[in-house]
Amino acid sequence: MTIKLTPLLTGLVLCLSLAACSQKPQAPDQLYQALGAQAGLEQLVDGLLQEIEQDKQIVHHFQDTDIPRFRRLLIEQLCELSGGPCTYTGATMQESHTGFQISQADFDNLVAHLMKVMQQQKIDIKAQNQLLALLAPMYQEVVYR
Ligand code: HEM
Repeated sequence: MTIKLTPLLTGLVLCLSLAACSQKPQAPDQLYQALGAQAGLEQLVDGLLQEIEQDKQIVHHFQDTDIPRFRRLLIEQLCELSGGPCTYTGATMQESHTGFQISQADFDNLVAHLMKVMQQQKIDIKAQNQLLALLAPMYQEVVYR
């Protein structure tokens, strides 16, 4: 009897200690999938570009930017950040934003546009917050460079 129960008890103790047995294991690309994978990210960045175009406060920063290249790199970066099958090939955030004197208000505007587009695309709120949490630390590398 003791011998038969031992594996069961071991399993139970392992379950309790991991506290994860009742939950589905999270796939490494869980956020990427929640954002709609490649097609979802393309839609997200296209929506963001439309918002930027209409925002008089920040659009001037992009006057000399190669937009198709920026679009491709931003999609690539969001794909990699969210665990998708991509490798970001652009410049570092510090390199690419140096010389633009982007203000805190500019940064907030861009984030607000991103939030609006994610809501419009009905991205799960948890995924929205996860993405914002990944972008927030980039603030230091983007603003007043
Ligand atoms: C977390 C926030 C941000 C992320 C993830 C991000 C991401 C990127 C990426 C991936 C690039 C392309 C890099 C390359 O050219 O190799 C880029 C370029 C650029 N970003 Fe950002 N960016 C952010 C915030 C901002 C903000 C707030 C502004 C201004 C309102 C801005 C303006 C620009 C401009 C103007 C370029 C193009 C630079 C050029 O033409 O050479 N970015 N950004």
